[in-house]
Amino acid sequence: MNLIQRAVRDILTADTAVAFTGAGISTESGIPDFRSRNGLWSRYDIYEYGHIDSFRRDPAKVWNMLREMLSLLEARPNPAHHALAELEDMGLLEAVVTQNVDSLHQAAGSRRVVEFHGNFGRLMCTGCGRRFDVREVDITAAPPCCPCGGVLKPDGVFFGEPIPPEAYRDAVSLAASCDVMLVIGTSAAVAPASQLPHLVKERSGRRQGTVIEINRQPTALTDSVADYTIQGKAGEVLPRIVEEIKATRQR
Ligand code: APR
Repeated sequence: MNLIQRAVRDILTADTAVAFTGAGISTESGIPDFRSRNGLWSRYDIYEYGHIDSFRRDPAKVWNMLREMLSLLEARPNPAHHALAELEDMGLLEAVVTQNVDSLHQAAGSRRVVEFHGNFGRLMCTGCGRRFDVREVDITAAPPCCPCGGVLKPDGVFFGEPIPPEAYRDAVSLAASCDVMLVIGTSAAVAPASQLPHLVKERSGRRQGTVIEINRQPTALTDSVADYTIQGKAGEVLPRIVEEIKATRQR
């Protein structure tokens, strides 16, 4: 049995399977990830641009990077996003928990999406809290501001900010109860998101789940928390899993 067949067996025998995705699932849509060789943090200092204190200190500077990131709004879902939506349609995937802020899971048709790090399609006023669709705002201003005068910030989580409470609760509950977690395209380098796969394995008095990692290179989870790793591109591996499931069901 190869690893694709093993994943198919595990998904088909699970009562509840969930997917946990990172920036790697969207690279085939043309959005760079963060920590690969040409990732965002190789071009921008992670603390000077990624931390909320830096945003508060100099929002105009951080907006230079954010404008580049918001090109993700032009991106289209790729076969990996579509495969996860199809698994949900087939009744085989309970939810997608994503660290991504690009809405591509929803664009592909996934219905239950838990956005652990928020969504960059919305901007939030740091003064009055009002939210805006990013397409309604002139983001060329340095920095973009609310009519109240407050600086606008993407409605996503910067380093130093808390995870949105409802998303946190949902993600932890899914991770703690699922039989299978597909961990796709994440380096698992950022807590608390990186702890979610651990919740599949560290359960006192309850049956452990299976962690299936899909990544084009080894991560902190490989050969540790992951039961097994399917090495390859998400946009190739996930459609193969869906095809194999269909073939198995027809047999
Ligand atoms: N298929 C499979 N894996 C891929 C692909 C692909 N096509 N492209 C990239 N990857 C893998 C990389 O090998 C890497 O392990 O995806 C992972 C991306 O890791 P990161 O760049 O660290 O992205 P992510 O894990 O989502 O980062 C977590 O860090 O800065 C923050 O808030 C940001 O949500 C983000 C968090």
